[in-house]
Amino acid sequence: MASSLYFNSFMIFGLALAILTVAPLAEAIAFFVFGDSLVDSGNNNYLATTARADAPPYGIDYPTRRPTGRFSNGLNIPDIISEQIGQSQPPFPYLSPVLKGHKLLNGANFASAGIGILNDTGIQFLNIIRMFRQLDYFEEYHRRVSGLIGSQKTGELVNKALVLITVGGNDFVNNYYLVPFSARSRQFSLPDYVKYLISEYRKLLMRLYNLGARQVLVTGTGPLGCVPAELAMRSTNGECSEELQRAAALYNPQLVEMIKGLNSEIGENVFIAANTQQMHMDFISDPQAYGFTTSKVACCGQGPNNGLGLCTVLSNLCPDRDHYAFWDPFHPSEKANRIIVQQIMSGSTQYMTPMNLTTFLAN
Ligand SMILES: *[C@@H]1O[C@H](CO)[C@@H](O)[C@H](O)[C@H]1NC(C)=O
Ligand SMILES: *[C@@H]1O[C@H](CO)[C@@H](O)[C@H](O)[C@H]1NC(C)=O
Repeated sequence: MASSLYFNSFMIFGLALAILTVAPLAEAIAFFVFGDSLVDSGNNNYLATTARADAPPYGIDYPTRRPTGRFSNGLNIPDIISEQIGQSQPPFPYLSPVLKGHKLLNGANFASAGIGILNDTGIQFLNIIRMFRQLDYFEEYHRRVSGLIGSQKTGELVNKALVLITVGGNDFVNNYYLVPFSARSRQFSLPDYVKYLISEYRKLLMRLYNLGARQVLVTGTGPLGCVPAELAMRSTNGECSEELQRAAALYNPQLVEMIKGLNSEIGENVFIAANTQQMHMDFISDPQAYGFTTSKVACCGQGPNNGLGLCTVLSNLCPDRDHYAFWDPFHPSEKANRIIVQQIMSGSTQYMTPMNLTTFLAN
């Protein structure tokens, strides 16, 4: 009797110890998201703007089968990253009235479709949350969470969190190249504009760092000239638009260099860069290898390549979204988003600088 009692309490003690040591690991880190439509999960639903995805057929493959404001047929990149880092649900849009109390501890999504690095990007979309404002909201988030758990614990939560920032594509598409002879294109040659964008982006990243971000995933732009919208509007021979490809080819390597420079200045790898151009290029050059029937035609849209105008209930809609790399004229399908996140998580140094996200979070 005595020995079995001893055995049992030892077991219980052991079990309790196991729970104590396992519990902190099981608790997922917080996740913060900044940027444009590639990562907006619905903030623009609450704003007076034309940049929105809150009507069908957006969300047709989302678990609820309803539009949420995500620019995808289903999940977007932050949703899939959230899944991969073990969160039970992705962070809510910061403007959502649902995001309050302890839900704030899971993180927040500050992204807003249409925005760019520069304040004058996306002016045609009127009321959107520009980058400086997203960071103002992040400061407000600190104050709100400090009220819940105190400022020291809030600081720790933010330090340990994963931060994703996806911005820059609109500075070309919805600014420099929006109209012929745009103000920015008269002000800057393309190489000088890229330099200016990178220097402004660097300031935004430093502000994130100063607000406590210590694990920041920065994505480059995709192959801007190859999206169905540009194939429809600019391409003469069905090939990617050379001018926009030139922009992406100048911008992406300089972004990586800027991030390397920031890390070495800080003396620590705070930022990792995802070569989203290469990730997209893989399935754009060989869609069949990734299970797509096409990367040139959007699933939802109208006109050549289904690349003109918006995706609405009146648009052509493909029956099987998994066969299309692009859901609408600008945004990847959920299937393509999954391929991109797979590379972010575990890709080689060809895709991820200086390391992939799995290695980054394990350090
Ligand atoms: C954008 O606007 C804000 C607020 O007016 C300003 O603080 C910030 O410097 C501007 N950013 C750029 C890149 O001009
Ligand atoms: C992720 O990065 C680590 C460290 O660089 C590397 O060992 C691992 O192979 C990477 N994953 C892949 C699939 O390359």
